[in-house]
Amino acid sequence: MKVVHVVGARPNFVKMAPIKRCLDMFPEDFDQTIVHTGQHYDREMSGTFFDELDIPEPDFNLGIGSGSHAWQVAKVMLEFESLIVELNPDLVSLVGDVNATLACALVCSKMDIRISHVEAGLRSYDRRMPEEINRIITDQISDILLTPSMDGNENLEREGVDPEKIYFVGNVMIDSLVQKLPEAKQRLDNLISRFGVKDYGLLTLHRPSNVDNLDNLTHFLIELTKISCDIPLIFPAHPRTKSQITRAGLEEKLSNSNIHVCSAMGYTDFLSLQSGATFVLTDSGGVQEETTYLGTPCITLRENTERPITLTHGTNALIGTSPLNLKQRVNDALAEIEARDKKLPEFWDGKVSERIATIYREIARKI
Ligand code: UD1
Repeated sequence: MKVVHVVGARPNFVKMAPIKRCLDMFPEDFDQTIVHTGQHYDREMSGTFFDELDIPEPDFNLGIGSGSHAWQVAKVMLEFESLIVELNPDLVSLVGDVNATLACALVCSKMDIRISHVEAGLRSYDRRMPEEINRIITDQISDILLTPSMDGNENLEREGVDPEKIYFVGNVMIDSLVQKLPEAKQRLDNLISRFGVKDYGLLTLHRPSNVDNLDNLTHFLIELTKISCDIPLIFPAHPRTKSQITRAGLEEKLSNSNIHVCSAMGYTDFLSLQSGATFVLTDSGGVQEETTYLGTPCITLRENTERPITLTHGTNALIGTSPLNLKQRVNDALAEIEARDKKLPEFWDGKVSERIATIYREIARKI
């Protein structure tokens, strides 16, 4: 069966890597092609992930880069359509909720190419989030919907998706985490000595709603410096956030604080810091899940999450996007997480790609 994997951005690489590796074990069943749409293109956000997660060079790079939503979706559709005509795959495997996921799903559905959506069914129920639109539409036109948690199955059934298309496989991001965790733990002492810290909080911020407004970002970082008086913060900043910090003229203020700003990190180093942190402060989607697996308290600077299982079973708490009184809200959330009864969500076990391979092999046999 000819399978095309599509990736575009940092979290996609982490999800695709274990699936590709697992399908490699059945060379008689699968002929695989990797297409990189090029949304994240530099070493920091892309190249290092291919090396660390042992992903071969993409067979095709569409070189799309950054742009408005309409521009990105349209450009990916045009480029991907020509490629699909050439490749004529039996199945296109899409991960996550980025613009490329939606664009490629639209192309495939019009060309009657089978679409598998990995991480299907997640809903924040906030349609102001561009990713929410990508999720809803991709799920409506996918043929195979692989969910990370049972809330995904419930959401899809509520939206009228045929239950026969839905498979609860678990969270594939955790497969990469399980594979890299031993190496990540070994690196921890070295890493934290580089920052000159012992106990620390880890910070990531990249959602446009948190970083695009300079006044809001400034207010946030001032509040974060107050938290860093109690415990140092390590802040691997997304390129978007880094340039916003420069635009807001905040570099000097931060360098005089106990917030250690550095460039976005490679996967294993970042995993290492997540595993050793006293807490993580983030607006990421994937980090909410990884911290739940690691048992590290996670304070999420968002109003809602498409990953509610991290709140009910895991170590995540939502505290909203207001910078007001941040320190107190973080402390309250940490106390609430500490008191919570926690358990690992079902099928977050490092074997998700094996379940996906079994499903893909059944399809291959029927072709
Ligand atoms: C989000 C968006 C997605 C967007 C992407 C851009 C949501 C729901 N989705 O995904 O549409 O394309 O951001 O980045 O918000 N990591 C590192 N090094 C770091 C920081 C993180 O390796 O310095 C790893 C984490 O361990 C995790 C992954 O990157 O595996 C998470 O990536 P992140 O960029 O935070 O993506 P999301 O927020 O999940």
